[in-house]
Amino acid sequence: MDIKKILKGMTLEEKASLCSGRDFWHTKAVKSRNVPEFEVSDGPHGLRRQTLKDDHIGASESIKAVCFPAACATAASFDRNLLNKLGKALGNECQAEGVGTILGPAVNIKRSPLCGRNFEYFSEDPLVASELSGAMIKGVQSKNVGTSIKHFLANNQETRRQTVNEIIDERALREIYFAAFEGAVKDAAPWTVMCSYNKVNGIHMSENKRLLTGLLRDEWGFDGLVMSDWGAVNNRVLGLDAGLDLEMPGSYGINDREIIAAVKEGRISEAVLDRAVERILKLIDKFESRRAKTVKWDKDADHELAGKIEEESAVLLKNEGVLPLDKNDAIAVIGKYAKNPRFQGGGSSHINAFKVTSFWDAAKGKGHELLYAQGFDDSKDEIDRALILKAVNAAKKCDVAVIFAGLPDLFESEGYDRKHMRLPDCQNLLIEEVLKVQPNVVVVLSNGSPVEMPWKDDVKGIFEMYLGGQNVGTAEYNLLFGKTNPSGKLPETFPVKLEDNPSFLNFPGANDCVVYSEGVFVGYRYYDAKKMDVNFPFGHGLSYTTYKYANLKVSKRKLKAGETIEVSVDVSNIGRMAGKEIVQLYVAPHTNGISRPVRELKGFEKVALKAGETKTVSFTLDKRAFAYFDTQQNDWCVEPGDYDIEAGASSRDIRVVKKVNVDSPRVFRKRFDENSTFSDFLGDEKLEALIKPVFDSHRHVNDKPVGERSEAISQEMIDATCGPTPLRAVIGFGDGTIDHEKLKEITDKANAMFGL
Ligand code: BGC
Repeated sequence: MDIKKILKGMTLEEKASLCSGRDFWHTKAVKSRNVPEFEVSDGPHGLRRQTLKDDHIGASESIKAVCFPAACATAASFDRNLLNKLGKALGNECQAEGVGTILGPAVNIKRSPLCGRNFEYFSEDPLVASELSGAMIKGVQSKNVGTSIKHFLANNQETRRQTVNEIIDERALREIYFAAFEGAVKDAAPWTVMCSYNKVNGIHMSENKRLLTGLLRDEWGFDGLVMSDWGAVNNRVLGLDAGLDLEMPGSYGINDREIIAAVKEGRISEAVLDRAVERILKLIDKFESRRAKTVKWDKDADHELAGKIEEESAVLLKNEGVLPLDKNDAIAVIGKYAKNPRFQGGGSSHINAFKVTSFWDAAKGKGHELLYAQGFDDSKDEIDRALILKAVNAAKKCDVAVIFAGLPDLFESEGYDRKHMRLPDCQNLLIEEVLKVQPNVVVVLSNGSPVEMPWKDDVKGIFEMYLGGQNVGTAEYNLLFGKTNPSGKLPETFPVKLEDNPSFLNFPGANDCVVYSEGVFVGYRYYDAKKMDVNFPFGHGLSYTTYKYANLKVSKRKLKAGETIEVSVDVSNIGRMAGKEIVQLYVAPHTNGISRPVRELKGFEKVALKAGETKTVSFTLDKRAFAYFDTQQNDWCVEPGDYDIEAGASSRDIRVVKKVNVDSPRVFRKRFDENSTFSDFLGDEKLEALIKPVFDSHRHVNDKPVGERSEAISQEMIDATCGPTPLRAVIGFGDGTIDHEKLKEITDKANAMFGL
């Protein structure tokens, strides 16, 4: 495609028209210039290709496809290679169907367990979200198919998602919400970005120039296309100017006409329109020029892959000697989800699975003694005593009861948020009743987001399958019977109760506005800072073997801010079964000037270890691993001081620690003036010398030596009260030798010293 030539030959009307979809899933063809239409399709946990033009969600069935585990599950694998493999399979499916871009991955931060779309999102931690989505993007795009990382930015709730104004401070944006996208955008270069519906700090994301152009393109170097979420356009002309290239779906020409009028009236230059058109043409060309001629989509192979991915993702939360199940035991298989699994979420990511394998399907015919009882109905949350009674009777007759519980579709979906964090009452009651007759109870959960677990201490085993895709049953079978060693870990905290969550008082907000008052203290960053009990911490996940951590090494014990250090740790499998361990590396600052999380995840690796095997796992930590975002400096800053480098099996199971000291110059960001405090001058020799005459003239400091004072006052107390005192206080409290002129002289000198 000669893009420049095509662009030059296009009329204003043709150009404006290309900037919105023809229908729900295609851009318009420009027949006179041989530009074909371009198809996008939902996913991202499979292909939700709609063949009817104007169908959005649910009006007709999408094509039969393979439903892979949702992002809530795949994130728990912590496995970049696995996500890459998933991406490759999806890319291949897109090529087979002629789809140029799959709409995902979705990387929004799990701010509250109540967000209806958490099942589509990866983590409460931005490193996990950006690294794993990046690996998936690379996989899809290696097949010459685009991705659309979404929803940029802060679509962290479904309540009023199209209009809500999310008030987020700059530090939280930088450290948490931007960061989830930043790594993936910089490293994996998605072909497209989808902007979200909501406003951020008062501005609709679809017309947020600072974020769509300033941040995404100028700072992060993104050079792809930005499309709107479906119907997210507020003011098309403002959007175009802000960097929103493509409006999806179409707007029956209404918004195209707005663009034409704006160009004609000189409200926007034609060059701005050309820029968007050029990006759209480039995207089409990128796909068309490398479009695969013949691709085989082997659905059965992808069904197998879906099961394997789930096996690597499920998290064993608790095991008091009950798992793996003994193949000779009589097992009561309780709960509807054993036969009819809940394996995906509702809304735009819903896949028309071509086949589903349940636990019952997978276990059948393998010689086990299994007794099934449905236990509950998930179409409504009503207690059905008859179903519970049958389940209790089955449990009585067996050696162990495995209860397949979870959140029904009605409880979590795109489009609305959860009302509470509980399982349906009928399921909690079922578990309690079974526990009365059977001491060996295992709960297998299918849900997209944490649930409260009133029975946690009484059951012997808990498996978190998340939403495990269409082959979840094979994974459940292999994991429960120990054919596969569990190796997933939680990419989010499971709090004891909803009220413990940091966003509890500000979710979903009021009057179309939500204030992220917890700042950077999201998920474990909050629970750790508050030393709170949680049901299961971030990074937690058990195995049927045991891992030992030793020999944590750092390449330097002292470093200057900005230098990188290498960290390595030996991890051994000291049990009898081969397995995979997710090694987590945290950095914990000791510095106390800035309010910071106790520890933050700065690296993770999943390693396969045979029984008895040891491997050395290595990480590199750069400046960002130690930095926080300083809003006055408008940059990443490293405080001088000690930092613990911690390697562990979860955020609350740190196994080995090494302290390093970082030397960093003090950063002066504010000009000195009479309102600068004494403590602003401390810690720097030259500044301390400058301030000495003011300090010396201060009566409170120098009245009498400490020991001779009548009040019980210590030097420490004097230092503590003087520190925050502004210099101008010396006018009243000093000995009269320092006046305003003298203070100005001193502060001018200080400013000159630091170029302020
Ligand atoms: C969702 C997107 C989705 C789009 C197209 C929107 O409502 O927020 O995630 O890709 O619809 O179906």
